[in-house]
Amino acid sequence: MTAPTLKFIDTPVDQIDAETAPEAIAELRTAVAYHNERYHGADAPEISDAEYDGLFRRLQGLETRFPELLTEDSPSQKVGSAPSSGFRKLRHTVPMLSLGNAFTREDVEDFLSGVRNFLHEWRSDPTLRLEFVAELKIDGLSCNLRYEHRKLVQAATRGDGETGEDVTANVRTITDIPHQLPDDAPDVIEIRGEVYMTDADFQAMNARQQEMGGKVFANPRNAAAGSLRQLDPAITASRPLRFFGYAWGETSAPLGKTQTDCRKRLKSWGFKLNEPSPLVGSLDEMMAFYQDIQVKRPDLGFSIDGLVYKVDRLDLQQRLGFVARAPRWAIAHKFPPEQTMTRLEDIDIQVGRTGKLTPVAHLKPINVGGVMVGRATLHNEDYIKAKDIRIGDMVVIQRAGDVIPQVVEIVARERPADTKAYEMPDKCPICGSATMRREGEAAWYCTGGLVCPAQAVEHLKHFVARDAFDIEGLGAKSIAEFFEAGLIKGPGDIFRLKDHAHAIQARDGWGPQSTQKLLDGIDARRRIGLDRFILALGIPQIGRETARLLARHYGSLAKFREEMALAQDPEHEAWAHLVAINGIGESMALDLVKFMAEAHNTTVIDDLAHELDVQDFIAPKAKSGTPLDGKTLVFTGTLTAMTRHEAKARAESAGAKVTGSVSAKTDYLVAGADAGSKATKAAALGVTVMSEQEFIDMLAGQGET
Ligand code: IVH
Repeated sequence: MTAPTLKFIDTPVDQIDAETAPEAIAELRTAVAYHNERYHGADAPEISDAEYDGLFRRLQGLETRFPELLTEDSPSQKVGSAPSSGFRKLRHTVPMLSLGNAFTREDVEDFLSGVRNFLHEWRSDPTLRLEFVAELKIDGLSCNLRYEHRKLVQAATRGDGETGEDVTANVRTITDIPHQLPDDAPDVIEIRGEVYMTDADFQAMNARQQEMGGKVFANPRNAAAGSLRQLDPAITASRPLRFFGYAWGETSAPLGKTQTDCRKRLKSWGFKLNEPSPLVGSLDEMMAFYQDIQVKRPDLGFSIDGLVYKVDRLDLQQRLGFVARAPRWAIAHKFPPEQTMTRLEDIDIQVGRTGKLTPVAHLKPINVGGVMVGRATLHNEDYIKAKDIRIGDMVVIQRAGDVIPQVVEIVARERPADTKAYEMPDKCPICGSATMRREGEAAWYCTGGLVCPAQAVEHLKHFVARDAFDIEGLGAKSIAEFFEAGLIKGPGDIFRLKDHAHAIQARDGWGPQSTQKLLDGIDARRRIGLDRFILALGIPQIGRETARLLARHYGSLAKFREEMALAQDPEHEAWAHLVAINGIGESMALDLVKFMAEAHNTTVIDDLAHELDVQDFIAPKAKSGTPLDGKTLVFTGTLTAMTRHEAKARAESAGAKVTGSVSAKTDYLVAGADAGSKATKAAALGVTVMSEQEFIDMLAGQGET
């Protein structure tokens, strides 16, 4: 599919008559749906946000003029691939995590040795067998089904892992999902798994949709997602959705001792399982099953994008725990991405939030693994040089999962005669400022800073992103619109938009109601958590997890600012503290301190501080008040019951900070066998020294084991 042509685009909305309206609306719907897919589905938009808004508003305009032509499946009734506001948000009682990825044998080997090295019994005995369940990784969308007293009471999509959407009514229409569990099921149990569509059902449904002029889906995954997230459950009911169970969330009683046991119980309760799921105990066994499934993949009848290896014993899963958003005890082993060839028509330059210039390949649109691809990232100058990519070349492209398509290589024999080596522009294509390549980096940057509209607007978009301010009614598109109109120049201006209420409601696509909603949404965010605030600032290298770490560590905005100012002096202990935070590297710390010292940034923060009430960070409830919460710990000597890695991870998940050296700020020194100078120093500083066993008791005391 290529971008649809628009026959009527030049005819003003009010000059379209009843006769041409159906065709004019149909062509716009196709176009909006197409660009939605480029933006949300393929992550590769072909038109600017403003152009997209224009198409969308035109469609709305026509549907308002001809209300009899408005249909439920019109893209004007949905926003991108996200549902319209019709779904209630549900907070997951146990977060729904994602998985780390392995692509090669070496990646799987790293995972395996990581797990073995974490667990001291396996670390010290290389011959000890450790079993994993190898499951199929189905390409659908994950869902949490909550049963209370054995009745299905609630179903939610994964969402961002913390909060999903309430799709209970829709899920009830899926015949694979039991509404009632047998007597042996616990009082509270959440079953997790994948809502998916078989290949045959997908083909048949698309054929039907095509016939009826409905939405045709690019692949079974999109079809499953689109069918589940329907505001009308009757539509979901008409779609052939299925469900595989493979995990669980909250449970009032344990399901078993191993993943295999639990799978058996799910099966006995009437859930379908993604089979086969053998136990594997070595790299060779994993690779053998992986190869075996790759051969069988076309005959499975449903799409999978790899395997998932999960440590079978649940007690070990518990000990291994999580890093950031993914379990240490499981990994996804992905299949190689699909590849195809197409022509590189042009190279565009995108300017990001930090001024980084990203070259983007403009491709002759082509279908890769069921999705139309028209753009692909070229990363940076070195990438282009290394592969000698030139405009006009025939290129091999690939798409892996949700990852942005990539140019793998050029096809030398297909190179036209008159191509030139590509040069990065010496002027920013947006603001005309000089560009430069920073030492030690592959990236070129626009030197315009916030003078460059592209950087300023990307900064603002980041500020309101989902994990940052997440202001209802103020998405990336409205930000771009208000920025262009001069209503907002910097983050603080967002909170002064109320002074422009009249100007906003007079704008195309806005009215009194939507303006009021926007202003309410903004007001609702005047109180903001410190972690979101730090993330929103857009400090280079500081993502969601790091922002949380900083918030947790410093507690309040005032303290954070004060410490960052002090940390400018590398001799000051504030610097030592910053780099001692587990998860903060030296380069990150440098960027952070530099950012916080820049006059422009302090002005922005002062301005925001006037408008906002930045709330002190409150550690998550479950962990607070535990003996290790908020304490600073140092390990020394040889531990016997667990590896240093496990000890550190468990201390951290109990709320402690683990540092490398003893200082007056250390609360506990955990001394294993043969503890050396650190123990002496601790004694001198009056730091409490405890044994490994005392540490384990403390972990147990806060319910961690
Ligand atoms: S386990 C903490 N098992 O893959 C572990 N996930 O990339 C959570 N998925 O969000 C997931 N098949 O949507 C698991 N057999 C399987 C799976 C599976 C598909 C999906 C799931 C998850 C995503 C992570």
